[in-house]
Amino acid sequence: MTLEQEIAKRRTFGIISHPDAGKTTLTEKLLLFGGAIQKAGAVKSSKIKDHARSDWMEIEKQRGISVATSVMGFDYKGIKINLLDTPGHQDFAEDTYRTLTAVDSVIMVIDCVKGVEIQTEKLMEVCRMRNTPVLCFINKLDREGQDPFDLLDEIEAKLGIKVRPLSWPISMGKTFKGVYNLFEKSLQLFTPSKVTIQESIEISDIYSEELDRLVGENYAKQLRADVELIEGVYPEFDVQTYLDGEVAPVFFGSAVNNFGVKELLDAFIQFAPPPIARETTLREVKPEEEKFSGFIFKIHANMDPKHRNRIAFIRVCSGMFERGSNYYHVRQDKSIRFSNATAFMAQDRETVEQAWPGDIVGLYDTGNLKIGDTLTAGEKMVYTGIPSFSPEIFKEVINKDAMKTKQLEKGLLQLMEEGVAQLFTYELGKKKVVGVVGALQFEVIQFRLKNEYGASVEFAGQDIFKACWISSKNPKKLAEFIDSKQRHIARDKDDKIVFMAESRAWLQMVQDNFPEISFHFTSEFKD
Ligand code: G4P
Repeated sequence: MTLEQEIAKRRTFGIISHPDAGKTTLTEKLLLFGGAIQKAGAVKSSKIKDHARSDWMEIEKQRGISVATSVMGFDYKGIKINLLDTPGHQDFAEDTYRTLTAVDSVIMVIDCVKGVEIQTEKLMEVCRMRNTPVLCFINKLDREGQDPFDLLDEIEAKLGIKVRPLSWPISMGKTFKGVYNLFEKSLQLFTPSKVTIQESIEISDIYSEELDRLVGENYAKQLRADVELIEGVYPEFDVQTYLDGEVAPVFFGSAVNNFGVKELLDAFIQFAPPPIARETTLREVKPEEEKFSGFIFKIHANMDPKHRNRIAFIRVCSGMFERGSNYYHVRQDKSIRFSNATAFMAQDRETVEQAWPGDIVGLYDTGNLKIGDTLTAGEKMVYTGIPSFSPEIFKEVINKDAMKTKQLEKGLLQLMEEGVAQLFTYELGKKKVVGVVGALQFEVIQFRLKNEYGASVEFAGQDIFKACWISSKNPKKLAEFIDSKQRHIARDKDDKIVFMAESRAWLQMVQDNFPEISFHFTSEFKD
């Protein structure tokens, strides 16, 4: 197969949802269709539920599961699908943001009872930054949910994306009859079942009496009225608007009942984009370029505390990756040979000889790689679009065992390279402040520092609202600003200057006083 053919048959995506909307269930059903697993229940949930907050065994177990399910590859109708798993627990959202940099599209799952929830809003913001194409699956139609038109309005209002229903539910909850596929003009009747897949019935004309016979007169009438309204309100579906990240096609179903999932998957392979061109510091790189390149978006470390082993996950962006080849590590300006590379097929890991754009390869690493690193066939370019986001909670790291200072430094560095949290080191006094998205992360850091590095730490709360990466078109003004705010200036992991704003109001005041300085909540920005 040529490089072009390999690229054309690949779809790399992630599923985003608020916890409990049905991401794990949908993942499992997709794997069932792809023949990657034989029976339901085989996909372990990689979520850490609230009740497990202090259960460290649980967290360790979950880390093990999440490495196994980090990437699930399967074939469906001749298409190689790479599904990248994202942690469900919101405290690990940063990990999800980064995973989203490695996908070409996403499927968003929404619970029809709860509607759009906060975590989905945040994840959509990340998708919007990159104009990632989004397919929406409204789940749990076997429950009494909200009116479908209201749900669509809510998605548009809260998620800032236009929608276009491609299927439509006929009632819901106890009287749920099924869904009508608007673009294939077929009807799928609902019978609750976790195993069987219902065949669709073709209905070329919804005004035919057959519809009344199949779903009953009243529901047939309602469907006709709904379809008329949809055709009147929503413009014809245009695939390009989906690929541009402007319009999200919407499907309805019930993942646990295996209902509407096949339609979703069929539409996904039909519409979702194959690997796309990506920006680097030098130029845009097309997947079909001969020479290999890719970037690291995730690192898993210390699965076995006896060996400091790490797996770095690289997304292949162009050319072919070959095991045993030497590749150029741009940040370290050196060539590295990767003889131990792993591909992911469902839950099995196997040694990979070759990988193509869109594929994810696990590289065994002894400490050379960190998140955001680019590997190439020699070109000195770095993939962009893998920013750090300002954390939400900040705490100072207090060393409780001076004898273990070295271990602490090493442990902190490695955990930060893994992306567990962000470290900000103040210019004055070298105070170390850790920033996280959710409080659970502090417990994870404390536990892992002790367990894996023998270092004891405590955390002291800090009054910090946001970490702001700063820039200015006027270097003199920037230097003056840094000088005048020395007590609040820190460096991030890449040595970039960050202004630690204490409160929203104070940041506003500083912004007003220094109009020539730009303040950014992400480490990558356009001036
Ligand atoms: P998540 O990964 O997004 O957090 O959600 P997950 O798939 O674990 O689903 C959360 C709960 O919702 C599960 O129930 C699951 O069975 C249920 N669920 C998923 N799809 C549907 C659906 O179409 N209809 C209904 N009624 N429920 C659905 P649970 O009680 O938390 O777990 P379990 O004991 O069923 O595994």
